[in-house]
Amino acid sequence: MLTYKTGIDCINWSKLFQLYDRIGLVAGLAKSREYEKIKEAFVQSYKLATAWDGDSLVGAGRLLSDGICYGMIFDLGVLPEYQRMGIGRGILDQLLQNNEHLRVHLTSTFGTEDFYKKNGFKQHKTAFAKYPFDSEYLMD
Ligand SMILES: CC(C)(COP(=O)(O)OP(=O)(O)OC[C@H]1O[C@@H](n2cnc3c(N)ncnc32)[C@H](O)[C@@H]1OP(=O)(O)O)[C@@H](O)C(=O)NCCC(=O)NCCS
Repeated sequence: MLTYKTGIDCINWSKLFQLYDRIGLVAGLAKSREYEKIKEAFVQSYKLATAWDGDSLVGAGRLLSDGICYGMIFDLGVLPEYQRMGIGRGILDQLLQNNEHLRVHLTSTFGTEDFYKKNGFKQHKTAFAKYPFDSEYLMD
């Protein structure tokens, strides 16, 4: 049975690391196996939402926020074999629940833009980003 949980109390860290080993994301930290940094980043997040098939962790996402004005969603991912079943939307709903007052920003990966459009997000006309390296996501 599929269930959603919020918070870190339910988190088995090795399961979370395995999830991102498969999905990527988390600023490349899974790829470089910097698991302690992933743990620290998630512990410091405002809200964490996870999707479970029984005891299996099948998706996750997190919200960074001041709780008052703004929020940013990062690292929303679902295992490939569980995609297109409504789980990504379910995680997004959990993250946004009780946070309807926030101005929420996010950056999509290439190819997932329409997922966010279908979930009520609009492209921002003046969004900017600064990374400590060149990225195919940034325009001159
Ligand atoms: C993006 C992602 C989280 C979506 O999760 P998901 O569980 O497959 O999405 P859902 O099943 O909840 O989809 C909700 C709606 O969005 C649509 N959708 C999902 N992924 C889509 C995509 N890549 N492009 C267009 N539409 C998409 C679904 O068809 C569904 O549409 P409907 O309401 O018309 O039925 C998932 O594909 C994923 O983990 N991708 C790899 C990691 C990644 O790139 N994450 C984004 C980080 S910003």
